[in-house]
Order: sequence, then C-alpha cells, then structure tokens
Amino acid sequence: MKVVAIVGSIRKDSYNLQLAKHIQNRYKHQFELEILDLGPLPMYNQDIELEAPQEVLNFKKKVKEADAVLWVTPEYNSSIPGVLGNAIDWLSRVEKVMNGKPSIIMGSSMGILGSVKAQMHLRDILFASGLNSPVLGGNEVYVGAVHEKFDADGNLTDNATIAFLDGVISNFQDWMKQYV
Ligand code: FNR
Repeated sequence: MKVVAIVGSIRKDSYNLQLAKHIQNRYKHQFELEILDLGPLPMYNQDIELEAPQEVLNFKKKVKEADAVLWVTPEYNSSIPGVLGNAIDWLSRVEKVMNGKPSIIMGSSMGILGSVKAQMHLRDILFASGLNSPVLGGNEVYVGAVHEKFDADGNLTDNATIAFLDGVISNFQDWMKQYV
C-alpha cells in the first residue's frame, strides 16, 4: 500500500510534520508513506488551471498514484490553514484526483483541543464536497499540547499517543482492504 501525507503546515519545525514523520517511520514495514511538500504550490487561480504549473501537476500525480491520503493538519483561526485550502483547491479542479480516494485525518496543536475544529471542517470538505473522498470514520486523532509530546529532536515521546496511534493505524489498514 502506498500512502501520501499532506501536511497543513510548511514551517520546517512543524509539529504536524513531525507527527507525519513518526507515522512514516513507525509503520514503514506496513506501508510506504511519502510526505508531500506544499511549499512549491502556487496560489490557486482559475485563470491558469487548464495550464497549471509543473509543481501542481507533480503534486497531483503523486496524489493520483497513491492508494490513500493521510491529512495531518494544525488549526488556524478555528479552521484549516490556507496552505491546505490552496492544495485542496488544486486537487478539486480539472483532473479530480481525489474522487473515490480514501482519506484518514489527524492533527495537532499546542492547545488542548488538538486541531479538532480544523479536522471537522476538513472531514466535511473531503467527504461532502465535490472531492468525494471517503474518510475513515471514528479513529479521530487530536494531539493536544503537542509541544509537550515531542522532544527537541522531533521524536514522539508520549507513550499514550504512540499506543493510540498504533490502534488507529491498525484500523486504517483493515479499512483499506476494501480499496486496495
Ligand atoms: C494558530 N494556532 C491555533 N491553534 C489552535 O488550537 N486553534 C487556532 O485557531 C489557532 N490559530 C492559529 C492561527 C495562526 C495563523 C497560527 C500561526 C497559529 C496555533 C497552532 O496550533 C500552532 O502554531 C501549531 O504549532 C501549528 O502547527 P505546526 O506548524 O507546528 O504544525
């Protein structure tokens, strides 16, 4: 199984990126996870969507070729960050590469709610909008107080979170059997 991760933060020390890297490393024998870089994506503009820049085509090709998408997002102003919305806008137009492609959502924040509102909005966007991506139900991952759960080297050190993720990823793999 090949999965791509789309992380809603492009800062180099992003906790959500660290969370994606934890999953990439801990489950590397179960599935391949490629973390995509949203940094090079230009702002979506309908004027150029039919002749989209190469960065957009590369990004969409990676998503198209994946069996599933892992979304890992912080919360900005009680919703999804702009970089994530921008990526979704590109994915939603011309070749609709998310159509029927399964998604799993997780995220983190330094507050106690762990990006819950951003994830609720993202779930609605993926499932209810024209993207038509089935999203793994239950198995919600809200990593609150994330700055206390990773060490200075970017390692997840919170045993309860590590164990919880083991269960979620196991459920994700069972759920994916219907798609791959
Ligand atoms: C935030 N942050 C934030 N946190 C939260 O729980 N709810 C929110 O609405 C917001 N809003 C928000 C807006 C903006 C513009 C910024 C920059 C930050 C804090 C945010 O969760 C925190 O900075 C995370 O560490 C960002 O994730 P990464 O970059 O570490 O992955």
